[in-house]
Amino acid sequence: MNKLVLVTGGTGYIGSHTVVELMNEGFDIVIIDNLSNSEKSVLDGISEITGRRPYFEQFDLCDKERVHNFFKIYRKVSAVIHFAAYKAVGESVEKPLMYYQNNLISLLNLLQAMEDFKVHQLVFSSSGTVYGEPDELPVTENSPVKKATSPYGNTKQISEEIISDTIKSGYELNAISLRYFNPIGAHHSALIGELPRGVPNNLVPFITQTAYGIRDQLKVFGDDYNTPDGFAIRDYINVVDLAKAHVISIKRLLEKKNKTNFEVFNLGTGKGSSVMEVIDSFQKVTGVKLNYKIVGRRAGDTEAIYANTDLSEKELGWKAGIGLNETLQSAWEWEKQYQNNS
Ligand code: WQD
Repeated sequence: MNKLVLVTGGTGYIGSHTVVELMNEGFDIVIIDNLSNSEKSVLDGISEITGRRPYFEQFDLCDKERVHNFFKIYRKVSAVIHFAAYKAVGESVEKPLMYYQNNLISLLNLLQAMEDFKVHQLVFSSSGTVYGEPDELPVTENSPVKKATSPYGNTKQISEEIISDTIKSGYELNAISLRYFNPIGAHHSALIGELPRGVPNNLVPFITQTAYGIRDQLKVFGDDYNTPDGFAIRDYINVVDLAKAHVISIKRLLEKKNKTNFEVFNLGTGKGSSVMEVIDSFQKVTGVKLNYKIVGRRAGDTEAIYANTDLSEKELGWKAGIGLNETLQSAWEWEKQYQNNS
């Protein structure tokens, strides 16, 4: 009998790629998603890749009663991966209440239901933004969690504290918090990928939409940072590499190999790339000339951050393997496939 894993936000970008890797590893999947930032057609892509269709329940995790009733029906859930959250740094600065309400209430409802129905394994989708503006680079899991530079990052910090406090209260919960850096790219099949609603907040989907002609011009936010080329630096990690780390984490919990009941791991490549390096790399691998304009900095942005991934490599036996060029190519292939078939 295959283990059943609940993936909240499973039709989203990272969620859908993780569902594919989990199904490839023989897990059965049930997705909860309210489709606020994804499309139901993602299920078709997952099915085409894996040959199986995950169970799907469409509702908002902020609806406490719906969450409770879900676990009444799906009694066999053995573990949960919680992705469902709003995640745009810039947008969170403009709409903080929407971010605190959605990201925190959904987690609280999920944790309460897990306690009520004795589901003890949780992988939480966290973020490198919990480190704020780091004092030293690369950041390790022991780097100070500083005041978040955006409400989005703050919701991730608060969420980790909620999980930690729940565990300290004696609730039998084993959790792994995965702190992502900047997930980019798409599955090599180009059947699933990043699908931002409306105008993309993130760099790479804005690049691919500009390259395709949907956006007239990419705005580059700031060239006056204290970095080698003046542009902000991030750790861009391939979304499939990221997804595989979730499978390893779920197995770690189910096989009781976790060393403490609340573990935290950085998921990055360990290498920083500037915005301009990403633009140059995209133009080189795709042959597409990008129309971009350098403008002022974006509120909430940090100057530079990239991960030390030694702990993930040591404890999870995981390391990102797909490079920036190949990842940007996959993002472009996905954009073309999606637009050509829309
Ligand atoms: C990257 C860089 C922008 C858009 C993301 C996710 C967040 C979290 C961390 C997982 C910055 C610049 C962007 C544009 C630009 N991931 N940029 N023009 O802000 O690091 O946050 O990764 O938890 O959920 O949002 O990513 O792609 O928005 O920005 O110049 O049109 O690209 O200023 O330097 P960010 P991003």
